[in-house]
Amino acid sequence: MAPDPPPPEDLPVACRDAMIEYTKHVMSLGDLLFELLSEALGLKSETLKSMDCLKSLLMICNYYPPCPQPDLTMGISQHSDNSFLTILLQDNIGGLQILHQDSWVDVSPIPGALVINMGDFLQLITNDKFVSANHRVPANREGPRVSIASFFSSSALPNSTLYGPMKELVSEENPPKYKDITIKEYTEGYFEKGLDGTSYLSNIRI
Ligand code: OGA
Ligand code: NI
Repeated sequence: MAPDPPPPEDLPVACRDAMIEYTKHVMSLGDLLFELLSEALGLKSETLKSMDCLKSLLMICNYYPPCPQPDLTMGISQHSDNSFLTILLQDNIGGLQILHQDSWVDVSPIPGALVINMGDFLQLITNDKFVSANHRVPANREGPRVSIASFFSSSALPNSTLYGPMKELVSEENPPKYKDITIKEYTEGYFEKGLDGTSYLSNIRI
């Protein structure tokens, strides 16, 4: 949806106007979040935006049909997102779970609330100060369930920038934990490996 939105006629009529309007709000919330997160790292509020974290927005609309035998499959298997940050809007069915201290915890829907997930690229550039969230959605007898995931990630853009732990956040006592990598290279590895619950970050750990 950003920086180059698709021609409107490429979006399904049922959600075309809503996607275009919602994108504006997601971009402005993303702008605020990256400023606050920069400040939380002790850096100038523009720092993460100056690294193009806000530049590109990929919106994925998930549709989970009701499942008659939920113990035989998953809605979406466990993973962390291939993004800097993800803004997730889920409907009232529920199902999203996050791994916390080795247990799966429900992230119950709250009307009007959004879920903000740290993605792998924030973990990479902050040298583990922020940690990407491992999450999943089990299959559900109820449904259909709809969720809209807005990924701040420039994986769809040609971008030769190398991302690695930020110079401001590493020191002799806290050396870089990851090798530098382009978003494109990371994304290829991420999808080649598949959503098996292990983070692709482990492949570039020093
Ligand atoms: C995703 C995702 C969760 C959900 O699309 O990456 O984790 O609630 N979706 O649909
Ligand atoms: Ni996800």
